[in-house]
Amino acid sequence: MPKVSERGQLQTQSPIRSLVPFADQAKADGVEILHLNIGQPDILTPTTALNRIKNLEEDIIKYGPSAGIPSLRKKVAEYYNEINISITPEQVYVTTGASEAIQFALFSCFDPGDEIIIPEPFYANYLGYAQISQVNIIPITSEFDKQFALPAPERFSSLINENTKAIFLCNPGNPTGQLYTREELDALVEVVKKNDLYLIVDEVYREFCYDSEFTSVLQFDEISENVIVIDSISKVFSSCGARVGYLITKSEQLRTVIDKYAQLRLCPPALGQIMAEACYTDYRPYINEAKEEYNKRRKVLYNRLSKIEGVKCYYPSAAFYNMAELPIDDATKFCKWMLTDFRHEGKTVMFAPADGFYSNQELGKKQVRIAFILNEEKLEQAMDCLEIALKEYQKIMHQTQPSYSYK
Ligand SMILES: Cc1ncc(COP(=O)(O)O)c(C=O)c1O
Repeated sequence: MPKVSERGQLQTQSPIRSLVPFADQAKADGVEILHLNIGQPDILTPTTALNRIKNLEEDIIKYGPSAGIPSLRKKVAEYYNEINISITPEQVYVTTGASEAIQFALFSCFDPGDEIIIPEPFYANYLGYAQISQVNIIPITSEFDKQFALPAPERFSSLINENTKAIFLCNPGNPTGQLYTREELDALVEVVKKNDLYLIVDEVYREFCYDSEFTSVLQFDEISENVIVIDSISKVFSSCGARVGYLITKSEQLRTVIDKYAQLRLCPPALGQIMAEACYTDYRPYINEAKEEYNKRRKVLYNRLSKIEGVKCYYPSAAFYNMAELPIDDATKFCKWMLTDFRHEGKTVMFAPADGFYSNQELGKKQVRIAFILNEEKLEQAMDCLEIALKEYQKIMHQTQPSYSYK
């Protein structure tokens, strides 16, 4: 057989999906897996969007414009205008999920060897995208004990050199479930301005802020040419499989380059765009309801987690994630053991080990990311499992001759 590529072998693997074979085996053995490992919401997709697809009138699914269907770009611009962000349809690119928007941003802004500063822990796929675009991520560690607040501007400044081209944020944060405040962003914008950097912000969770108002970087007019926002319908409209996201930029110069990448892949998914457009019909009640549901789940999760002995956690303020530090030796081992060995009333739980969200994996060794994407009853069951599992695991961990083998 011919050899597979070196670079393919070196490509980082998604830490979220690496445990999937063990979950599949457990399912095949009849075990119910409570999936708290992945940001796939169980909230129903808007009925208007589902009906639009069910009653499809199109008789040919055609290629469309590379930047997206004009009527969808208009709807997205209107959505932004309604939240007091002034955007025109020309400034919106429709992409194949936020995932493609991230790739477009990296390819359009950076050359091989350029550096981008990203607070860690960060959404693990940023590493893979940086790798394929040959950009170096310079991590800046945000701390669990400070509830993953945005690191101080001086810490960003101290990492800036002639190769630094951007600061990249995820706000609200995945995996942290935390929101950066207006004041934190104000201070960072000064650093961006002073060093004329790009400021790329992944805002796919912007609609799920429970305690305070969200600030988009598109609101900072003084750096409008430097800003790129990444957005998506995956989470807001519970439409992960539609594969529709957006890249928003006010920079005309940048758009001439993005156009080329957009044309290269012809167009974003036609069906997804049709669906996405229907999502914007009377959408506010839908979003409010989804947000209220996540808020309830956030409370259930925190109430349970904070009572489990040895577990360190905090009350997340946004998105649908919570990081927790567990009284264990290694989160990957623990998560795998949950899938291969632990059962409670025919169930187990799948978490995402947090080491994959850090460039220095030691930092996340005892941490897991918990996505509160199941209903309250299921979350309670998952926390029952966790509580019992931790006791069992600790017994095994403390045996002098461990009777378990992982990895
Ligand atoms: C922060 C963040 N950005 C981007 C994505 C990818 O989104 P999409 O499904 O729109 O490609 C995810 C998915 O979980 C995410 O959490």
